[in-house]
Formats: sequence, C-alpha cells, structure tokens
Amino acid sequence: MNWDDDADVDEVELTAAELSHLQRLTDADADGDERAVEAALRPKTLDEVVGQARVRDQLGLVLEAARRRGRAPDHVLLSGPPGLGKTTLAMIIAAEMGTPLRLTSGPAITHAGDLAAILSGLNEGDVLFVDEIHRMSRPAEEMLYMAMEDFRVDVVIGKGPGATAIPLDIPPFTLVGATTRAGLLPGPLRDRFGFTAHLEFYEPDELDRIVHRSAGLLGVHLTAEGSSEIASRSRGTPRIANRLLRRVRDYAQVRADGVLTLAVAQAALELFEVDESGLDRLDRAVLDVLCRRFGGGPVGVSTLAVAVGEERETVEEVAEPFLVRTGLLARTPRGRVATPAAWHHLGLTPPPVPSVDSTLFDDV
Ligand SMILES: Nc1ncnc2c1ncn2[C@@H]1O[C@H](COP(=O)(O)OP(=O)(O)OP(=O)(O)O)[C@@H](O)[C@H]1O
Ligand SMILES: [Mg+2]
Repeated sequence: MNWDDDADVDEVELTAAELSHLQRLTDADADGDERAVEAALRPKTLDEVVGQARVRDQLGLVLEAARRRGRAPDHVLLSGPPGLGKTTLAMIIAAEMGTPLRLTSGPAITHAGDLAAILSGLNEGDVLFVDEIHRMSRPAEEMLYMAMEDFRVDVVIGKGPGATAIPLDIPPFTLVGATTRAGLLPGPLRDRFGFTAHLEFYEPDELDRIVHRSAGLLGVHLTAEGSSEIASRSRGTPRIANRLLRRVRDYAQVRADGVLTLAVAQAALELFEVDESGLDRLDRAVLDVLCRRFGGGPVGVSTLAVAVGEERETVEEVAEPFLVRTGLLARTPRGRVATPAAWHHLGLTPPPVPSVDSTLFDDV
C-alpha cells in the first residue's frame, strides 16, 4: 500500500518535513504507512494533549515564562516507557515556542564531531531534540555537558600531543532529551536539565478520550463501548490505543459494516491476539517461558530474552514495565520472577512453595 493512496493520510495533510522526521524515528513495529498515520494523530499543541495533567501544567508554565522573558526555555528531559508521548511533547515544545525542531538521536551521534556539527548549525532559540539520549557515546556526552551549561564546545583538531582544542560559541538553544531509561543517564547529564518530566502510563478514561479523538481524525465511526474496549486493552499507552484502533477499523471495514461496536472490537482484538488485560504475544511469551520453562524464575533478563527470541532491550523496555505495573512480573536482584497472578493469567496453578519472596523485590 502506498501512503498516497490512503485517504486517512490525505485528510490530515501531513507535511513532507513531518513525514521525513518521523521516518527517521525508530519504531520497530510500524511500517511507513503506520508511521504516517501515527504522525497525523499526534497532538500539535499542549491543549490537545490528553492526560499527563501535571506534566502539561508544569511544561506550560516553563514555556510561558520563557516566552515572557524572550529567552530559550531551560533544557527539558522527557522520560518514560515507549509510546507515552515523549516525541509528541518535544514537537509541541518547539511549536509552542514558534521555533524549528532539530531532530537527532543518541545512537546517531557516534563521534563528538557529529555533535559539534549539529550544535554549530543551530540558530538562537532552536529546539534540539535528542531521542534515546541514554545511548550517546561518552565523548559526545561530555561535549554536550559543556554545550548545555556554557553554550560552548571545544572542537579538538588533530591527535596525540599535537592536538589543539578550538573553543566554539554556540547560540542559546533548548535541548530536549528523551529516554526510556532515565536510570542509565549519567548524573552530570541528568543534572543539567532544568526540567524533567516523567511520563506515566495513562488511565483507561484518558485512553478512551484519545481513541475518540483519533477516531474523529480518521473519520471512523465508533460506539462508546467499542472505544472503551480498545482503551482497556491498550496497556496504558496512547501509541497502542491508536494502533489497536486502526486494527479494529480494518476489521470493521472488511468483516462488519464499518462501525466499531463492542462486538467488532472484541472480535478484532481476539484475531490480533490482544487479550482482555491488553497483553500481546510478546507479553504472554515472556510469562509463558518464565512459568513453563523456568518454573516461575528467578531468571536473568538476557536468558528470558533469548528464550522468547527478542532483544534484551525489547523485553526490558517494552514488555516488562507493563507486566511489572500490572503485578504479573517482579524484578528481583536474582532475576525476573512470575507472580501468582501470572500463573493464573496463563490458566496455570502456581507452584505450592511461593516463588516470590517479597523481601527480594527491587524496583530498579
Ligand atoms: N497525551 C497524548 N494525547 C494524545 N495522543 C498521544 C498522547 N501521547 C502520545 N499520543 C499518541 O501516541 C503516539 C506515540 O507517541 P510518541 O511518539 O510521542 O511516544 P514516545 O514516548 O516518543 O515513544 P518512543 O519512546 O517509542 O519514542 C503519537 O503518535 C500520538 O498520536
Ligand atoms: Mg519517540
């Protein structure tokens, strides 16, 4: 499918710049079309953002104060699990300040020189968005400390004893960093952000509002029950809510009369293997391996990842936060442990001797 042929995308007039920005973002399970639709559903202003009331309030204040002073706002760190709105908020910060958003990511900056080139190309007041900032190289990180604090970098020319550092002034800018793993950020970097927003999973009623909003933008007809069914299976995550909405819409178009009712939502989500609690194949695979193959644990996360055929990061950042939050999995110093609720969720009987020792819990 060519995205030009997709009526939904045409309707919202995605700009070429927005599309190319998004193409550069990594989203492992979305193809180009899906990303284009995802961009179309992104709130464009703070007022359009659903939920995250505290973050919205705090950020609104920081931006308003900066506007009144006529200065670039302080550097902002956005942390939280995938799909909760970090990139969305970064784009909104730039839009609210009426400045362009320069976009890059930690893994893209392999040498300090790459960062120097980006920084020296900034104009006063620009917003520089560094996605996955915890994955930046050490030398680049050190250069960034100085740039954030003094708006200056030292560009090193040459190697060994003959190397010289040339100081380079850079215009005041705002760094917006996003990370799914705030704990991995070195202290000196974390401390240089003037404002840190931690995004939380969304409540079902907030997801319900997001599903309604997206359905409106996509021109999809849905009932209140259909919407709340999608919301309750979205694992507290707007990106998943929007993705499930699109799959239920596909189902409604092909196998029903186009209206997203409760029955249509249930049938579609069963087809796409999203269960009542919102667990998808990966979540269930993790629990399944943990209970059936490792007797409920404890087992190290790397072993678990190999056993389900996924990257360690995917298990840690995508599956685990939700499983921990819903009380199905516990992280202990000795490894991951299935809780009795996990055994019950799989329709299994927990082992007689509790495999979970609450004194071992460690929320890192
Ligand atoms: N508060 C919100 N209100 C409405 N929609 C939202 C909200 N937050 C996120 N979304 C929707 O969810 C999608 C994913 O959000 P976003 O890309 O900002 O997540 P992210 O935190 O950057 O994820 P990742 O860590 O994977 O980069 C967006 O396309 C947007 O439509
Ligand atoms: Mg993002």
